[in-house]
Amino acid sequence: MTHATGKHFLQIPGPTNVPDRVLRAIDRPTIDHRGPEFSQIAREALETLKQIFQTKGAVVMYPGSGTGAWEAALVNTLSPGDRALMFETGHFASLWKEMAGRLGLEIDLVPGNWRTGVDPAVVEAKLTEDKAHAIKAVCMVHNETSTGVVSQVAAVRKAIDRAKHPALLMVDTISSLASIDYRHDEWGVDVTVAGSQKGLMLPPGLSFNAVSEKALAAAKASKMPKSYWAWEPMLSSNKTGFFPYTPSTNLLYGLKEAVAMLLEEGLPQVFARHDRHAEATRRAVKAWGLEILATNPREYSSSLTAIVMPEGHDADHLRETILERFNMSLGQGLGKVKGKVFRIGHLGDFNDLMLAGTLSGVEMGLAIDKVPFKRGGVSAALDYLAGNH
Ligand SMILES: Cc1ncc(COP(=O)(O)O)c(C=O)c1O
Repeated sequence: MTHATGKHFLQIPGPTNVPDRVLRAIDRPTIDHRGPEFSQIAREALETLKQIFQTKGAVVMYPGSGTGAWEAALVNTLSPGDRALMFETGHFASLWKEMAGRLGLEIDLVPGNWRTGVDPAVVEAKLTEDKAHAIKAVCMVHNETSTGVVSQVAAVRKAIDRAKHPALLMVDTISSLASIDYRHDEWGVDVTVAGSQKGLMLPPGLSFNAVSEKALAAAKASKMPKSYWAWEPMLSSNKTGFFPYTPSTNLLYGLKEAVAMLLEEGLPQVFARHDRHAEATRRAVKAWGLEILATNPREYSSSLTAIVMPEGHDADHLRETILERFNMSLGQGLGKVKGKVFRIGHLGDFNDLMLAGTLSGVEMGLAIDKVPFKRGGVSAALDYLAGNH
């Protein structure tokens, strides 16, 4: 690699750019995690965080990645042999399903083409069929990071209610929380799974479960083995601002700052900013004459856009060219779309000029790699941004 000057453009769909304010908050001496100063910070962080999930209920926080929070959601609420309804919407939905299988759950998998989200009509049909209420949980990914497809959580909730089915609703919001409108309480979600490294603008290392009263009741009956991920000791320690084991002290300073930044901007404004950058990106892609992986405009993601490469052109080669020449990282195609798509992350701490730079890097990379495309994508995006401010 040639010597890189200037800032690296981290335009993968998470981990995202960490704002200076958050970096400065983390850059402090580590304190005693059993002392009064820590207790105060932790209680404050856990309380304000509820606003981001749009919940009044409990939020559990782990020193761990999002995968851990997936496991926590399953092992705290279910028992070996329980059935879960899951959907093959993309790479992350598939990984969650594999995990559920390894934990001893029976999975009722709805196959998918990785280009569309969960169909609420299928949810209603599957649950209506399940007269014996054998299905204990419906597990879905809100924003599928591998495809840029958003599933409609509120519509799935309504489908579960129409079927009059008692299954728990569990939602992975790892790449949507604090980027795309998400309402844990209003949408009747039982467990929300989240991570620190995307919309929350923090480094990787924290993950979360927001938990409904119904999920807490299910946890009392759950027979799945659990220890590190168990909610009960966590919730009782959290009451006094402590944790049953060593928490990520410095990330908590960062969390407090990141939540403050999001609330200063205002959640509706945060979502509108993401929508606007996503729309500008799609206008660029359309002007280039390239295809967006998501096929249903109602399901377009505001966190990222996955772009299909023209036949015979390798997305990973394009990403390598762009990294080498412009010091910008783009998201690779994951699982069965490897080499076929690349992903532009436009979430987290991001603004118009960062998007302009990102799209310019992509447009130049397409030209260098001799990918068949039309010029003018960047202009189309700039026109949109200038006209919609
Ligand atoms: C939607 C989604 N779910 C789960 C995960 C797994 O999270 P982690 O890599 O933090 O374990 C990711 C990671 O990118 C993701 O995007």
